[in-house]
Amino acid sequence: MLSTFTKAQIAQAGPTDISDEVERGRIVVFPECPIALASPEDLSFLREEMPKVLRLKNISYHPESDRIIGIKGQREVVARAHEILKAHSQRVQSFLGKTIPSLASGWMIGTSSFRPMQERGRHLSAHASNELVHVDAGAYGATHGDRIIRFFVNVNPVEDRVWNTKGAFPELHTRYGAQAGVGRRNGNGGYLEEGIFDRLRTATVRAMAAVVPPAKLLDSSPYDRAMRRFHNYMKDTPEFQSTSEGHQEFRFKPFWAWMVFTDMVSHACISGQHAFVDTFVVPLKNCRLQEMAPINILKGHP
Ligand SMILES: [Fe+2]
Repeated sequence: MLSTFTKAQIAQAGPTDISDEVERGRIVVFPECPIALASPEDLSFLREEMPKVLRLKNISYHPESDRIIGIKGQREVVARAHEILKAHSQRVQSFLGKTIPSLASGWMIGTSSFRPMQERGRHLSAHASNELVHVDAGAYGATHGDRIIRFFVNVNPVEDRVWNTKGAFPELHTRYGAQAGVGRRNGNGGYLEEGIFDRLRTATVRAMAAVVPPAKLLDSSPYDRAMRRFHNYMKDTPEFQSTSEGHQEFRFKPFWAWMVFTDMVSHACISGQHAFVDTFVVPLKNCRLQEMAPINILKGHP
């Protein structure tokens, strides 16, 4: 499930070589971090200071509003974290714009977040927990079938970041879709079509979000609701969490980077501390292998 690219291989790759790997449901790993990182002093600052000022699950830079969320502390501390995350976000965008240009065209640039806490034993609620295997559902409200890609960097100088997976969406849906209550047999054939009420809500939410950006969190769609159901089924089902079927463990070493369609590849972060996570929503039409997208898997299987 891993596709590894060295810096030399990135330089030699064609314009869709790396994005095709992502679309196939591979985790694309960069053992040599392909972007410049914040200075060692700035990384030490994040590791040491962010746990003290964390107010939400993560600390996140929002590029659309140029704001940092999830932090409460002295003004200089907040301002320094803001600058570090903003610069990191811009370097990730620049790298991905060159490396996966077909996916990056017209995408929605989401948050750049720093994960300051040890993931093992955080005791978050089941649906918020990173330690339980899941596929991501919704990002910033609803995606309507667009894709969620995340780019990670482990900036812990000594500790691996450890992930588990149970496989990718196509096979997960075949195995668990009916139990999870997603699929055409649970509704009429067009259950993923957006009805008048859905279209009205989305139009209203978009108009509101133009004035107040967080209003986009109110959006929904039949696709996003199905993905949420699947996400919750995974996290709420102990037999799924403990199954050996499709189970693999990955260890991402200090200063490795990796990226993956997190709406497709199931994942849990079972341990590790100090990582950057950058999120982008890729228009479905950008994908070359659209038949592998979750929305088309859902539409195509009874
Ligand atoms: Fe996730």
